[in-house]
Amino acid sequence: MFSHETYFQRRRSLAGVMQTGLILLPGNDETPMNYAGNPYHFRQDSSFLYYIGHDVPGLAAVIDADSGEAFLFGDNFDVDDIIWMGPQETMAEKAEKSGLTGARPMSELAEVIDKAKSAGRQIHYLTQSRDSNKLKIQRLLGIPADDVNSKVSVKLVRNVVEQRNIKTAEEVQEIEKALDISYDVYKLAMRMARPGMIEQEVYGAVEGHILGRGSYVSFPVIFSVHGETLHNHKHANMMKDGDILVLDSGAESPCYYASDITRTFPVNGKFSSEQRDIYQIVLKAQEETIAMYKPGLFNRDIHLHAAKVIASGLKDLGFMKGNVDDAVAAGAHALFFPHGLGHMMGIDVHDMEDLGENYVGYDENVKRSEQFGLAYLRFARELKTGHVFTVEPGCYFIPELMDMWKAENKHTDFINYDKVFTYRNFGGVRIEDDLLVTEDGYRVLGKPIAKTVEEVETWCQA
Ligand code: GLY
Ligand code: MN
Ligand code: MN
Repeated sequence: MFSHETYFQRRRSLAGVMQTGLILLPGNDETPMNYAGNPYHFRQDSSFLYYIGHDVPGLAAVIDADSGEAFLFGDNFDVDDIIWMGPQETMAEKAEKSGLTGARPMSELAEVIDKAKSAGRQIHYLTQSRDSNKLKIQRLLGIPADDVNSKVSVKLVRNVVEQRNIKTAEEVQEIEKALDISYDVYKLAMRMARPGMIEQEVYGAVEGHILGRGSYVSFPVIFSVHGETLHNHKHANMMKDGDILVLDSGAESPCYYASDITRTFPVNGKFSSEQRDIYQIVLKAQEETIAMYKPGLFNRDIHLHAAKVIASGLKDLGFMKGNVDDAVAAGAHALFFPHGLGHMMGIDVHDMEDLGENYVGYDENVKRSEQFGLAYLRFARELKTGHVFTVEPGCYFIPELMDMWKAENKHTDFINYDKVFTYRNFGGVRIEDDLLVTEDGYRVLGKPIAKTVEEVETWCQA
């Protein structure tokens, strides 16, 4: 946890902008894998972590925006629990660690909410991604669980997003702690992968390394010779001589901030000339766009620059044709680069996606495009100092998409299908780093992880 002052100040700022009403923050509970005593790995709700910090199940918090008081609700463990779970912090100790006004038993939460409702006070709550928390809100506020997310306090969502969007120095330090683990993961994976191995051997070593550092994955590890499947969670392929691998993975810091890194590397330690050509295009797109980051620019424009670099590189190789600006405006590059350039990162790897992507990455000035490809850009709006993003361009040869576009004669002015089909089994390339927008530009976070062709080959052959 951070110091109690951090949580106190975060709640004070939030109460200040909300001005009035109660802010209800349900924490997460254990989720049974098959029965209650055998749960999945516990992950606390991210907004609860941000304002309260405690990463144990069975808690809720209420911030009174009028008085500034904030209480933690939950129950002390009795000796029966302690026999199974070991010594536990008391609720009073938890309240103190988080700089809260005090702690109260969970049974009093309903009374506090009822009293506020009877007095005509507003109860603000955020979008809930867990059904168990929707049910809690149903019980406390009488809103049917299925309607909970359509009745959120938009004012609270917007204020939380604006606050969590800007990362402080101690938050950036956390992200860099997670990146420190990622650095070692990439060293390990590049060194370990060899022709004849099954993907899951490396996948297991990656997760094992993260767990061995006292961390947990910030999202399920993507590791495959089929990098053209963007979020490939199957790991049963044999890695063959001549294949390239995409490893997209992240860890969590002690305060649960994420890292999110992707590297593409050759199974046999040496890129083929075809692989190198595509890799260099993606690398150019990543390096040029990283260099653009500064406050005041719009992330959508940076994304479109990446699209142009990729389209231009593919035109040089004969996969695309025609005017590059027109091709990108028409969305033809999305055959190869069908996702957004990146996303905001923080306590969530896609930060605050649970609160609503459009609240995080779009606003009244920037509306989401409906064009295939650009529509997947998670953050389009103006950059501010303190934003943390991933920058992750990619180039993929997705057989199903190629077949579909060809059958529809889509963008035939810009795509040379005959050439594209010769790369049907190529796979994909993605390169991803995490950066902080600073007052005068940007800082790529973490220690540099091998990225040029030469660096990657060196790490693979180490
Ligand atoms: N978590 C996958 C990605 O956004 O890079
Ligand atoms: Mn990633
Ligand atoms: Mn990412």
